[in-house]
Parts: sequence; structure tokens; C-alpha cells
Amino acid sequence: MVGTGQFITFEGIEGCGKSTQATRLAGWLSAQNIATSLEKEPGYGSIGAQIRSILLSTDHHHMDPWCEALLYLADRVQHLQEFVAPRLAEGTWVLCDRFHDSSLAYQGMARGLGEDKLSAILDWAHPQTRPHLSFLFDLDPEQALARARDRNDNCPVAAKEGRFEQLEMAFHHKVRAAFQTLAAREPNRFAIISAEGSADAVFARVLSVFQDRYPHVR
Ligand code: TYD
Repeated sequence: MVGTGQFITFEGIEGCGKSTQATRLAGWLSAQNIATSLEKEPGYGSIGAQIRSILLSTDHHHMDPWCEALLYLADRVQHLQEFVAPRLAEGTWVLCDRFHDSSLAYQGMARGLGEDKLSAILDWAHPQTRPHLSFLFDLDPEQALARARDRNDNCPVAAKEGRFEQLEMAFHHKVRAAFQTLAAREPNRFAIISAEGSADAVFARVLSVFQDRYPHVR
């Protein structure tokens, strides 16, 4: 497996800690001399950055759900084409903070647009590149949103991008359940990680799953 770029995604509701864990695993892989690229959706690259500012602006509460879904997909297709696919091809490991499972959970299931349609659009626009491993960080929404709101209070950019954090708690419960359904459907790809406890404790869980999956990397 080493020498072939692996595509690993990090999923979960806001405030579950996935960005911290993605950063830590990227640092750990780099320390093992594995070429690693830490990326995120939405908003990687110059086109993605502009799509992200439309998607997450707190001025855009009136955005139509299909407009929202298609912008996430547009961001994803550009990201795959411009960055992920070429990096995997050259042997770099790509760690991505959110990917298509977020669209399935938020837009497909919680907003009710239907997962099949969203996956059909991605399969049509960019059929090839899909994650080898996806971590789902599972946490109670009350706890997770409290973490996300703390972060927004301390960061003006995050506060301006808080359109999703401002949705009612019932929505976040739906998103959590949606991710759990997706993970149950593909147990070989997904690893469900309890996001309770300190960042160190959660990273120990991540590393344990990772080392089971890639025993040659150390
Ligand atoms: P971001 O500020 O990147 O936060 P987080 O740390 O939670 O990832 O915000 C991304 C937001 O976009 C987040 O609320 C989830 C949402 N999202 C979707 O609804 N669909 C998607 O396909 C993606 C990638 C993200």
C-alpha cells in the first residue's frame, strides 16, 4: 500500500473535532516520511475559496437547497480534478476534512434532497476518485455545537461563516443520524470514532484504526 496515494476523509457534525484530528494525522504521516497533503471541503484552492464564501455567508439564509447542494458539488469536482486526483497519482496521501459524505448527510438526508441524485451528479461529473478510508467522528450535537460556538466566538472569520451552526438543534441531530446511517452502510470504508474526551484521547483511537488498516506505515 505504501507508495500508492491513499485518500482519507474526516467526517462528522460541526464541532466534532475532525479538523484537529485530520491535522494531527497529517503531521504523524509526514513524520513517517509519507508525502501528505491536508485539504478541506468546501474551499480548497482559489475557485473553491470563492464558492465557500457564497455557501457559508450568514447573509445567505435564503439560499435554495438545490443551489446549496450544487455549489458543494461544484467545489468537489474542481477540488478532485485540480488537486486530489493528481496528488494521489503521484503517490501523495490526501487527507480531506469533509468530502461527499457531508453532502449526503447534510443536503441528501437532513435537507431531504435525496442521496441518489447527489451521488449520480458526482458520478457523472467525476466518476473516479473516492475515499479509501473515512473517519466518522461521532459526538452528541449539544456537546459538539457548544465546541463550535466557542470556536466562532474566538474567531471572527468562523463567526461570519456560521450559517450552519445557526440552524436549530433538530437539524444537527438529523445530520448525526445521517452520518451513522452512511457509516453502517459501508463498514469497510468507515471507521466510527467516539469524539468524546481530549484531542489526545481521540487521536489515540484514530491511530489505532489507522495502524490496523495500514500496518506497514510506521
Ligand atoms: P466549515 O467552516 O468548514 O466547518 P467544519 O469545521 O464544520 O467543517 O464549514 C463547512 C460547512 O459546510 C459545515 O457546516 C458542513 C457544510 N457542508 C455541507 O453541508 N455539505 C457538504 O458537502 C460539505 C463539504 C460541507
